[in-house]
Amino acid sequence: MKSYLFLPGAFLAVVTTVCSIKQNKGYTATDTGSTTTAIAGPAENYATYCAGCHGEKMNAFVDRDWKHGSTLKDLMKSIKTGWPDDGMPAFAKTFSDKETEELAEYILTGIKERKEYDFNDRPTSDIFKSESMTVKLEPVATGIDVPWGMAFLPDRGILVTERGGKLYKVFNKQKQEIKGVPAVVAEGQGGLLDIALHPDFANNQLIYFSYSKPHPDNKRLATTAVMRAKLGRGGLSEQQIIFEALPYAPTRHHYGSRLVFDGKGHLFVSVGERGNEKENPQNTNNNQLGKIHRINDDGSIPADNPIKDKSGKVTSLYTYGNRNPQGLALNPFTGELWENEHGPRGGDEINIMQPGKNYGWPLTSYGINYDGTTITDKTTAQGIIDPQLYWIPSIGPSGMAFVTGHKYKPWKGAVLSGSLRFQYLNLSYLDGNKITKEEKLLKNIGRVRDVRMGPDGYIYVAVEKPAAAIYKLIPVE
Ligand code: HEC
Repeated sequence: MKSYLFLPGAFLAVVTTVCSIKQNKGYTATDTGSTTTAIAGPAENYATYCAGCHGEKMNAFVDRDWKHGSTLKDLMKSIKTGWPDDGMPAFAKTFSDKETEELAEYILTGIKERKEYDFNDRPTSDIFKSESMTVKLEPVATGIDVPWGMAFLPDRGILVTERGGKLYKVFNKQKQEIKGVPAVVAEGQGGLLDIALHPDFANNQLIYFSYSKPHPDNKRLATTAVMRAKLGRGGLSEQQIIFEALPYAPTRHHYGSRLVFDGKGHLFVSVGERGNEKENPQNTNNNQLGKIHRINDDGSIPADNPIKDKSGKVTSLYTYGNRNPQGLALNPFTGELWENEHGPRGGDEINIMQPGKNYGWPLTSYGINYDGTTITDKTTAQGIIDPQLYWIPSIGPSGMAFVTGHKYKPWKGAVLSGSLRFQYLNLSYLDGNKITKEEKLLKNIGRVRDVRMGPDGYIYVAVEKPAAAIYKLIPVE
């Protein structure tokens, strides 16, 4: 009975209300009618009456903290009487008792099956259809367990970081290890992370990579650091740590660490709050965790950075109140810096970074704690920049790229974010800065860790093990 949930070959679906777009928050009321009669079986009924608010694949029910109970009886009650004050319509007049029961059963089975499906069922074809175009996946590298970041070399090679601590150059589908990376704390979410070329790489051969750096004296502690080095035939040389986020922390998660050059000589570095939201993201005094930083290419601090510390000294801080930013990209159409970050349970976000601004974590959030308790009842507040988009449930976004060039005309100008959790590539269409619609591409491909536009005009996607690969997306007629 899996087929009713995940139609083979239908690797793409329009996301409905699992995510909410700014200025269009919450659920839109559906006219359930008073004389409507239900059509056919539970799958059709679900698709017609429920999917619009709860997601085609029951997204809203996966990992749900059931408010009104999760037994068959509880679900039947919710469906029958609804929760009108909370936006859940009553369907007593729509369905018979039998239809209501079948629908409730269908949802409960679906949730169970979905969990299995998430890990087992891989696409059987390398052709993926979207609403507007079809692409074929061409693997350009395999066997890199957790490919965290990609950087495109002028000789058409690709530098790929492996979270475990290795750096590779991929060329003609072969990979070669590059020696000279430092020791990394490859535990939890840590390891060798993002990578970027200096804008003048062709002349200076400088590369930058971020990693989880062990504390020199205390093994328990680690932090997000950035190293600059020269890439030569024999590997890396002239290694220099140009950025270290303070304080070091004992946790092994929320390192953030995407690297983006802004075309004006600055390097942006995203840093997560290391799981300590009380201490870090809102503290702008000698605290660099839960922030986006802007530094010069040698690690020095630009004199016109927006945030000063208590003593009046300009800091590396560019924004604060960020949780775990794992996607960062310049919008080539506006020059603005875009970001995606992990929320708690629910509340992942896409943001536009404005210098000196507060992005709210943990004062505002669309998410809740993993144990179901409340972090904050505020989703917006004075002085805090609201997200452009938030996802409930969390998709676990990583990597970010704007679609440019001429190869993907229907997607041009849209922004891509990888989904670790639901294992697809998210496409968010834009009208100016407003996200108007989303599509799920490459469904069930695996955990998408990074996405980039290559200099050859193709989209490249990095997927984690067990089906680890770097894919190039080739449009097909
Ligand atoms: C207009 C949007 C909308 C539609 C359509 C809708 N729901 Fe809901 N539903 C909601 C909202 C919002 C809630 C959360 C209510 C709350 O938090 O108390 C909800 C809650 C529920 C719950 C209870 C969840 C819990 O946490 O206890 C169930 C079960 C449910 N819906 C099933 C359905 C089914 C089945 C359908 C289709 C027949 C459906 N809903 C159609 C918006 C909708």
